Amino acid sequence: MAMKQKPKNNVELNKMRAAGRLAAELLDYLTPFVKEGETTEKLNELAHNFTIEHGAVPAPLNYRGFPKSICTSINEVVCHGIPSEKDVLKSGDILNIDVTVILDGFHGDTSRMFLIGDVSDEHKKLVQDTYESMMVGINTVKSGSDVKDIGNAIEAFIKPKGYGIVQEYCGHGIGKVFHSDPMVVHYATDHPSYSMKLRKGHTFTVEPMINMGQAGTELMDDEWTVKTVDRKFSAQFEHTIAVTDEGVEILTESPKGYHCPPYNV
Ligand code: MF3
Ligand code: CO
Ligand code: CO
Repeated sequence: MAMKQKPKNNVELNKMRAAGRLAAELLDYLTPFVKEGETTEKLNELAHNFTIEHGAVPAPLNYRGFPKSICTSINEVVCHGIPSEKDVLKSGDILNIDVTVILDGFHGDTSRMFLIGDVSDEHKKLVQDTYESMMVGINTVKSGSDVKDIGNAIEAFIKPKGYGIVQEYCGHGIGKVFHSDPMVVHYATDHPSYSMKLRKGHTFTVEPMINMGQAGTELMDDEWTVKTVDRKFSAQFEHTIAVTDEGVEILTESPKGYHCPPYNV
């Protein structure tokens, strides 16, 4: 069994709601700036300032030495891409922006994909399928379900499409701590380490990384950037969620309705 997470009380859940909402608002705010010719460094600056102005702290900055306030992962980058002046967005790119804010001591963690200019049909489909896989996983969650049901459902949805599901990185418990138990894997497993019975007040992320080709990943020399081994494209979405009596509450839902591209800015 995974280490048990202590369920959050209503006061704590309200703080998780506020943090999750701010993280989603941050992605909404960035959306009109995500276009051809823009650098990921500029997106980082905008995100950093927005976070501070809203009384929050960007969790990635200095987290285990991470140098920036958001992660920006383009094309074959699976996750943990570092914003840079050298990364100029160009037509055909697919970009994941992953933001985490700390508000009143609690974390809100969410990411979405963005399509730059003319993206190929196969890459658009990868992005759409990845979004749907996240929702398929989230929709298994209710009081009494098992956290491993998420990965089982995602694999049943994704595998027939021929994609690779990344195994080295997973979702995680979240609250006052950025990454805690349980581990939320996005593939099918019966291993007891990935099993935990869910209860009202449990909060964690679901964040599948889906590859066009092989599932394998490779860590670059900067010790953060993760790429696909075959350099084919990868997509990811992430929500922070809470288990409720009724089922599940998505804490990082976009107030502007920017769930999955195209976003009607
Ligand atoms: N936001 C990422 C996650 O979903 C973690 C990024 S850690 C960082 O868990 F240091 F790279 F920012
Ligand atoms: Co996360
Ligand atoms: Co994240």
